[in-house]
Amino acid sequence: MNNLKKLREQFLSTIESCKNIKDVEVARLKYLGRKGLLAQFRKNVDFKTLSPEERKEFGKGFNEIKSLFETKISRRKRSFTETDTERSGEPRSATVSKVLPIDMTLPGSGHSIGSLHPITLVQMELENIFMGMGFYIETGYDVETEYYNFEALNTPADHPAREMQDTFWLTNGMVLRTQTSAQQVRALEKFGVPLKAIFPGRCFRYETIDSSHENTFYQLEGLVVDRNITVANLISVMKLLLSQVFHRDVETRLRPGYFPFVEPGFELDINCLICGGKGCKTCKNSGWLELLPCGIVHPNVLKSGGVDTEKWSGFAFGLGLTRLAMMKYSIPDIRLFNSGDIRVLEQFTVSL
Ligand code: FA5
Repeated sequence: MNNLKKLREQFLSTIESCKNIKDVEVARLKYLGRKGLLAQFRKNVDFKTLSPEERKEFGKGFNEIKSLFETKISRRKRSFTETDTERSGEPRSATVSKVLPIDMTLPGSGHSIGSLHPITLVQMELENIFMGMGFYIETGYDVETEYYNFEALNTPADHPAREMQDTFWLTNGMVLRTQTSAQQVRALEKFGVPLKAIFPGRCFRYETIDSSHENTFYQLEGLVVDRNITVANLISVMKLLLSQVFHRDVETRLRPGYFPFVEPGFELDINCLICGGKGCKTCKNSGWLELLPCGIVHPNVLKSGGVDTEKWSGFAFGLGLTRLAMMKYSIPDIRLFNSGDIRVLEQFTVSL
């Protein structure tokens, strides 16, 4: 435990001294890389000599430190990205001090300044991973037209697949977006091809709520359109994504899945990390959790986006961001995310 503390201190001072995004990446590899200091530390522990209690305590401490490292790294990276893109390299404090004599946004003394929501943390981490692969990021709209949410996605009004997504309809004929796939054709229209983009955002479904279903949840859509795209490209990006998010190999299974806007379509499930695949409430005793439906973009969707299907093909995926956060932080019940229960949320406190 003492060594873990030392590692934590060493990490904090390294991250503090980073001067640019490259330094942060070097720090990430040094501490969180596959052969990084944290992995080495774990490897050197002789678990056989520990009692079950000690093992549990070690596991808890280790996971806390790892999660802290991940959060700090993703926040530090983001701080540089924001500074680079929004302020052309000018330090934040310099800009602010020119405009405002006092920083009115500072919290009052003696108050806690809160923390980032676990879904925000996971979203930021994924955005960093995809930015590293050259993807655009677009968030789209919570309120969407029927056209972009369904019709443009090869799902006309009489298509039985509409039943798969219980929809909140607004009185003006628009919908609360049921899926981030709604952004696919908008992005094709806006950016054209070739295209590599992700669309994180909130989705809504008129669902019965249980431990793994909410009526308001987050997805992160991905769309790649280029020449000669195949299922091999799709699978390699999915694998890279999961290994970077979990920093270890996670057991997955790929099975056929039906969505009108992809052909062929797949469901990529991950072994439930809450119960280790034994079966629990979260995975409905199956040991697996549906996380990443995906497939090759249907030509009709490309046509809706004005793309020549003789020349271009693509793949798309719709990651369940809320479920990913559940797996990453071992949160057994999805209802905790929107509950506003401070006892849950404060466990993710990171210094802002
Ligand atoms: C879709 O929404 C498709 N748009 C995904 C897609 C995109 C397929 C691109 C192919 C290509 P689905 O309804 O299965 O698919 O939802 C996707 C993911 O969102 C699920 O795997 C799950 O992780 C998450 N999800 C769906 N409904 C809920 C819910 N009620 N609560 C929490 N997460 C949900």
